[in-house]
Amino acid sequence: MDGARAGSPRLALLSLALFLFLAPCRAQSCSSYAFSDSRAYSSCVDLSVLNSYLHWTYNQTSSVADIAFRVTGATESDWVSWAINPSGLSMVGSQALVAYQNSSASLRVYTSSVDSEGTTLPEGNLSFGVSNISGKLEGSEMTIFARLQLSSGTTTVNQVWQVGPLQSGSPGSHALSGANVQSMGTLDLLSGTTVASGGSASSRQRRRNVHGVLNAVSWGTLMPMGALIARYLKVFQSADPAWFYLHISCQASAYAVGVAGWATGLKLGSDSSVDHKVHGNIGLALFVLGTLQGFALLLRPKKDHKYRPYWNMYHLAVGYTVITLSIINVFKGLDILDPEQKWRTAYIAIVATLGASAAVLEAATWYIVIKRKKTASSAPKISHGMNGDDGYSNGRV
Ligand SMILES: *[C@@H]1O[C@H](CO)[C@@H](O)[C@H](O)[C@H]1NC(C)=O
Ligand SMILES: *[C@@H]1O[C@H](CO)[C@@H](O)[C@H](O)[C@H]1NC(C)=O
Ligand SMILES: *[C@@H]1O[C@H](CO)[C@@H](O)[C@H](O)[C@H]1NC(C)=O
Ligand SMILES: *[C@@H]1O[C@H](CO)[C@@H](O)[C@H](O)[C@H]1NC(C)=O
Repeated sequence: MDGARAGSPRLALLSLALFLFLAPCRAQSCSSYAFSDSRAYSSCVDLSVLNSYLHWTYNQTSSVADIAFRVTGATESDWVSWAINPSGLSMVGSQALVAYQNSSASLRVYTSSVDSEGTTLPEGNLSFGVSNISGKLEGSEMTIFARLQLSSGTTTVNQVWQVGPLQSGSPGSHALSGANVQSMGTLDLLSGTTVASGGSASSRQRRRNVHGVLNAVSWGTLMPMGALIARYLKVFQSADPAWFYLHISCQASAYAVGVAGWATGLKLGSDSSVDHKVHGNIGLALFVLGTLQGFALLLRPKKDHKYRPYWNMYHLAVGYTVITLSIINVFKGLDILDPEQKWRTAYIAIVATLGASAAVLEAATWYIVIKRKKTASSAPKISHGMNGDDGYSNGRV
């Protein structure tokens, strides 16, 4: 794997990383929206997920907010909801406005205080006053209008919004992954359209994306590449000991970036209301096994030592386990992050490329080894890369 070939996937990943950083900084499209009944609001924001938009006018003197919450792509079998949560960035405690098409084919719009997890939005009074609540479903766009009497001095609120399916005519549980658990953030009622709200949600989203990129690049790409280097470069005697140092530096940088990625995951996990147990446990296992590989290097017996074959087996077993778990965990992470399909496709392409390279190199290696054996059959004790099937048996290192 020469520099040029290693370079182009890195370039692709860099642009992927850049896109993920910049994606949340899109232009506000809500500001060009015109309400059909000529309502007008002084501020609006494109919420970060669920095709949602919030328009509002806030009278700071009276602490009255007139709001319109819009969801595009909603159907007659969806419910939509927007809430203020005075108790924090979570679903429980949300003081919600809810709308859905009820059985009499008219839109039901009501208030609901979400007191516990798993309740399906029962009607109830909110902790602040709500008046003039109404809604409409036009085409595939559902909107809730309301006037909120907030407590005096309010300038920033925690907002939570949600879209879910109807179940036997009333709101059912919404999805518990992807956009449906990212739909919260703080909203500064005083700042205009240009200052993004959903601010903490989009910074959280950015941290989630950073976590994804760091780990997909390190554990998910560099580690397997480092293993390919060890396995297939060493067959060329001229690449000895270069392959060894390449392998070490590839795995060491993968480990360094991977530990940073793991740390971001720990932070995300401790901030998250949803417990991604399996993903977290695999992450922990990877950190432990990856660290063990580092220590194993220090404890490596000399290459003609009688324990060296056992060390080789151990090193290979842990190495292949790490690679397998890494790839599994990147896909688990993709399920949780639930990005656009193209990111999943991109990672599948990376794994497929690594797999195809391994297959081609494996064949080429055997070809070289067999050819070498034939030409050297009269000269005994020619060492080559495939004896013992490990990365260390023939090296001069
Ligand atoms: C804001 O509320 C105060 C107090 O109710 C009122 O006097 C004022 O006219 C309102 N401002 C606007 C722009 O509606
Ligand atoms: C549907 O909503 C309308 C408007 O809120 C209400 O009058 C009606 O009772 C509701 N029907 C059902 C079955 O909930
Ligand atoms: C909500 O508030 C109204 C008016 O204050 C009151 O009549 C009603 O009983 C309350 N509903 C609930 C469910 O507490
Ligand atoms: C709110 O409702 C009241 C009574 O129904 C009405 O008089 C008032 O004009 C409404 N205000 C807005 C802003 O729609």
